[in-house]
Amino acid sequence: MINERVEKALNDQVNAEIYSAYLYLSMSSYFESVNLPGFAQWMKAQAQEEMVHAMKIYDYVIERGGRMLLGAIEAPPSQWDNPVAAFEATLEHERKVTALINDLVEIALAEKDHATNIFLQWFVSEQVEEEASVDGVLQKLKMIGSQGHGLFMMDRELSSRAPIVSLPTAE
Ligand code: FEO
Repeated sequence: MINERVEKALNDQVNAEIYSAYLYLSMSSYFESVNLPGFAQWMKAQAQEEMVHAMKIYDYVIERGGRMLLGAIEAPPSQWDNPVAAFEATLEHERKVTALINDLVEIALAEKDHATNIFLQWFVSEQVEEEASVDGVLQKLKMIGSQGHGLFMMDRELSSRAPIVSLPTAE
């Protein structure tokens, strides 16, 4: 049986991961609205990855005999001043998520829940990658500024990020 404090913290993290998915889907919609379909594709794939994170934790709680209680998901912002602002917000958000994961590890250790500590190590490494990939895009974006040609090239580059799952398109 899972420790109650750990169970509550993991429940909260599922909410935070689904909020992340919601935030990135909102960014995807914003990028569509400013005619940057490659950026939109990148953010959609990012949103799908966040749902994978949420489900990993969800499944783990259930596997440990815990209970997942699903709360409300906060509405994300829907507008950013420009692509740089959106990626700055993304990096800031990922840093927040990293802090949440680190707090979770602290809780697992304090409660001597070694299984959860091991489970969380995947997320610790994943956060390093997440921050690095977002920062990579942000630095490139800052270099090209809002220049049409550079932005167009980058949009093409980002469009190559494959979605985790392809949903059937409406006909
Ligand atoms: Fe699930 Fe982007 O952290």
